Amino acid sequence: MNRNIRIHPIPNSWYRVCFSKDLRPGEVKPLRYFNKDLVLFRTETGEACIFDAHCRHLGAHLGHGGEVKGEGIQCPYHGWIWDKGGQCNHVPYPHTGCNPTVKIGKWPVAELNGTIFTYYHSEGKAPTWEMPVFPEFYGGEWVSAIQMYKRNVKCSIQEIAENNSDTAHFSHLHGARFGKVLSESLELDGLQRTHIASYEVRIPVISKLLGINEFHTTYQQYGLGCNRNLVSLKANGKTVLEWRLVCMHTPIDKENAEALCVTKLKKFINVPITRFIVELLTKKACEEVDKDAMVWDHKIFLENPPLYKEEHSINQFREWVKHFYSDSEQPEKISFPTTSGSNN
Ligand code: FES
Ligand SMILES: [Fe+2]
Repeated sequence: MNRNIRIHPIPNSWYRVCFSKDLRPGEVKPLRYFNKDLVLFRTETGEACIFDAHCRHLGAHLGHGGEVKGEGIQCPYHGWIWDKGGQCNHVPYPHTGCNPTVKIGKWPVAELNGTIFTYYHSEGKAPTWEMPVFPEFYGGEWVSAIQMYKRNVKCSIQEIAENNSDTAHFSHLHGARFGKVLSESLELDGLQRTHIASYEVRIPVISKLLGINEFHTTYQQYGLGCNRNLVSLKANGKTVLEWRLVCMHTPIDKENAEALCVTKLKKFINVPITRFIVELLTKKACEEVDKDAMVWDHKIFLENPPLYKEEHSINQFREWVKHFYSDSEQPEKISFPTTSGSNN
């Protein structure tokens, strides 16, 4: 017996490719995302640029040996310089007949929230929406955790995002930390999806120290590459801690992704105490995301799962996610044997 398994195309969306602090002016990095080779560099005046990796002259990879020259990048092979618009503006030897219309592919870049994002579109179309500013990324009253979650998973980006619609898995997979769902609502606003829920919570140490017994989360999803959890940790209905968990996952190809989560805590009493708590919360969060990642690494996507009424948010998510695929993109289906004991 064979079962149809869907392989999703890469959804059209903004995705994180680097943190701003990790790319100084003049720095060049090779990237491998979206099943493509890319080069990321920062010009001398500080603009982050992403190009197709391979030089349009004779194919050298600009991310390996390329150097920033002013507002452009110089290829390591014959020294052609591509300006930040992707146009060749310098050939460092006598030449005639160079075609000035030849350009290297340039990707959209947005730099905000301490992060460099690019926009992937399967047909190369320009973005139709912008990533929003998250105030917690701009210091002031927020303390960032030093720890973060980062690892590659063998899973499509859609299935990773679907995890947050799947509230039924919270109590089993994450059962050690979360209790029952107290309330839940879902808002779909075009390309933004907001899921608001409250849970009973049992976080050892923090619950004990601060009497926290409720975890109220507003989960916002921006495209398929970013979700932000605005979490209020409450003691008997009163907010004690304001925590942010921001996940920015990036497709490596259709079936693999880089999963990444960072967290921030609003200043509580003073910075050392805030730092202590945020690191504790982050450690727990990383343990929980790692449980998800274990499932993501090995799961398959089932098109018509037998869902209970309470699991309706999964189907709502699957409807909403259609916004992020081009009309022309039909997911591939492959056959997958379901019987054991036979490799035929
Ligand atoms: S391959 Fe880049 S300059 Fe020749
Ligand atoms: Fe989960």
